[in-house]
Amino acid sequence: MNPELVKRYSGAVPRYTSYPTAPHFSDEVGAAQYASWLAMLPEQARLSLYIHIPFCSALCWYCGCSTKVANRYEPVASYLSSLRSEIANVAARVPASHSVTHVHWGGGSPNILTPDDIPALAETTRRSFNVAEGAEFAVEIDPRGLDRERVAAFARAGVTRASIGVQDFDETVQSAINRRQSFALTQAAVEALREHGIGAINIDLVYGLPHQTRDSVEATVSKVLALEPSRIAAFGYAHLPARLKHQALIDEAPRAMCASASIITPAPTTRSPAAQSTAISKAIRLTRPMPSSGSALPRSAGCPKATFRTALPCPTTTAS
Ligand SMILES: C[S@@+](CC[C@H](N)C(=O)[O-])C[C@H]1O[C@@H](n2cnc3c(N)ncnc32)[C@H](O)[C@@H]1O
Ligand code: SF4
Repeated sequence: MNPELVKRYSGAVPRYTSYPTAPHFSDEVGAAQYASWLAMLPEQARLSLYIHIPFCSALCWYCGCSTKVANRYEPVASYLSSLRSEIANVAARVPASHSVTHVHWGGGSPNILTPDDIPALAETTRRSFNVAEGAEFAVEIDPRGLDRERVAAFARAGVTRASIGVQDFDETVQSAINRRQSFALTQAAVEALREHGIGAINIDLVYGLPHQTRDSVEATVSKVLALEPSRIAAFGYAHLPARLKHQALIDEAPRAMCASASIITPAPTTRSPAAQSTAISKAIRLTRPMPSSGSALPRSAGCPKATFRTALPCPTTTAS
């Protein structure tokens, strides 16, 4: 390990889900500029496609993603129609000599799509781009809205990896963040995906949430390990209530606020689950110490402005 690099990169960074990262998006980049960048792709480039589905069935109060609560399917259907036009627009500028090796559907919750729309959107993508044989096709999934029809639809669509939101299994934490999700429901989702051949499973956790303690995080990590995921993504909670009004609904605001993320690949190990969960909990980097048990976390005013500007991944979460 190079201590100089650790020092240089130990600060708050944007959640790295796009390039440029969301805080650097600007109106100055228009269609013409984008088209010119597509034209400059090197010959026979290997491409990754990201498709965003900005809708959810309910709002989690910590959420920092770009999403809306959809109480009806009509806004989702209307968005899909715009998405198909955008896919056609981009595909017209990407020669078939470029191959797509990764496809990722994020959100929001892509499993809000109907079981018919899921394979239809995948088919539109395949017809429009040269998707390579064996390309990875990953989808972010909220297990609370995943029924067997949708699991079968994802399998038909060719999904190879599922990324499942958990955040925390502790009921007190779940109440505080307005996301109730039992272990049994999550386990059923993981099993259904595996039964349908979707074997690569990622689980998202968030640290720095209200009422979390070291013990409660370890208990969550133990449960997650029992699901044997191939990957765990641990996000540091980005608390930005000045910008994301719904985050002010969180009663006891947390103190580990500034975004960072760790990807952890649980290696096949001879260690006991308890020892493994302690090791992973340690790997989750906390910006300040966490109480070992019991007490609620102190209130906080949120991230300092400089951090807010670089940490904000995706700004709007509204209802439609
Ligand atoms: C699009 S969601 C995952 C799929 C699905 N919507 C769900 O929540 O189950 C992306 C992930 O971002 C993380 N996330 C959301 N808001 C966050 C925040 N304010 N700070 C840190 N991570 C956050 C959560 O781990 C969440 O699972
Ligand atoms: S965390 Fe996921 S399910 Fe919850 S509101 Fe955000 S995108 Fe939707």
